[in-house]
Amino acid sequence: MAKIAEANSPKISALRTAIRHDASTLSAHLQAHQTRVFPPHARKTIRSFSPSEVAKLLGLAEGYLRTIVSDLEARDGSNFNPQSGPGNRRIYSIDDIDKLRKHLEDSTKGARSPRRYVQHRREGEELQVIAVMNFKGGSGKTTTSAHLAQYLAMRGYRVLAIDLDPQASLSALFGNQPEVHVGDNETIYGAIRYDAERRPMEEVIRQTYMPGLDLVPGNLELMEFEHTTPRMLMMEQQNRTGDSLFFSRIETVIEQVEADYDVVVIDCPPQLGFLTMSAITAATSVLITVHPQMLDVMSMNQFLSMTSDLLDQLHDAGAPDRHKWMRYLITRFEPTDGPQNQMVALLRSMFSENVMVNPMLKSTAISDAGLTNQTLFEVERGQFTKSTYDRALESINNVNAEIEGLIKAAWGRV
Ligand SMILES: Nc1ncnc2c1ncn2[C@@H]1O[C@H](COP(=O)(O)OP(=O)(O)OP(=O)(O)O)[C@@H](O)[C@H]1O
Ligand SMILES: [Mg+2]
Repeated sequence: MAKIAEANSPKISALRTAIRHDASTLSAHLQAHQTRVFPPHARKTIRSFSPSEVAKLLGLAEGYLRTIVSDLEARDGSNFNPQSGPGNRRIYSIDDIDKLRKHLEDSTKGARSPRRYVQHRREGEELQVIAVMNFKGGSGKTTTSAHLAQYLAMRGYRVLAIDLDPQASLSALFGNQPEVHVGDNETIYGAIRYDAERRPMEEVIRQTYMPGLDLVPGNLELMEFEHTTPRMLMMEQQNRTGDSLFFSRIETVIEQVEADYDVVVIDCPPQLGFLTMSAITAATSVLITVHPQMLDVMSMNQFLSMTSDLLDQLHDAGAPDRHKWMRYLITRFEPTDGPQNQMVALLRSMFSENVMVNPMLKSTAISDAGLTNQTLFEVERGQFTKSTYDRALESINNVNAEIEGLIKAAWGRV
């Protein structure tokens, strides 16, 4: 009775009205902003790449790239026609890079020990599922996931990015506005739900504007998994069935499409709910993003102890332990900031080689690109002071290359 009386009090009703009003004002404002910076039907693209960047992505010397380009132009000029950039130098689109990679692979076929340019998994190499997590909001999970997924696709892997966050920032970065482009049952919830509306995983996967990169977008409906799972668990307890195995649901749906991909990158929400637990179970590796500041590290302490308790429970419930590696990635790092350096030194002394060698530097190039829902591989370098852009890109590329090294090591490639 007391509760009902409270809920009906004028104060509560004023609060409800105020919050509803502010929610709709804010939502309208944000939608208008989104439409301004990124119209709903605009097509996103990856920027063009210089010859030296292309040579690096393909793993060749620049001289050899020139030979291969002339070769492909002579053979397939109508389909392969890179544009000219400043100073009449060629610049390459992401599709040009894809064609070059396939051409290289074809032209080395039949050689005694052909070099592999297409990086797809080979026999015996397991699909790598990387969960990017930490329950501290704003620790750089989405920024890391987006750049990693795009980098790996540019390097020639077949990548599936899964947005597990109801806030759906990764989807927005990849051109899928959650309110405009993602409908009911179009997130991974559609594939892992418990009821008859469940659909095959391939139906919730969509292509992106990049060859080699697919996306399972997110939106608010992901929250349903957090609500329906406890109900399922309660029903199971009553019926003593125990057959829903909530924690293995993401793993199971990834298995449905396993043959199509080399790497899956999961952007987790900033909480340790059922979705995140299910992601940990599906993961072969875990990347914990951490901003090196006292409050963030204290929060990570709680995250680690809760995660370790959860892992014990999952283990007892029969979840398999498939983890190959776990790393801490220092994010938004400012090398001139004394306290941050002390914090990084502390993390390295405690966790040694589990802290990634390369930190992700804080850069206005990354945050400004984010304002227009873009990654560093999408914004044009000319929009920024060159040194600002180059430093940020170098930092991102170093982080991504280090992770690529871990993936290759998990496959036994060196
Ligand atoms: N290296 C960086 N330099 C500058 N800004 C950054 C960097 N990394 C992330 N940011 C900015 O910090 C904010 C939070 O980053 P991001 O969204 O990646 O964090 P998150 O952990 O995914 O957040 P959430 O917990 O809300 O999902 C964003 O505005 C992003 O643009
Ligand atoms: Mg995020």
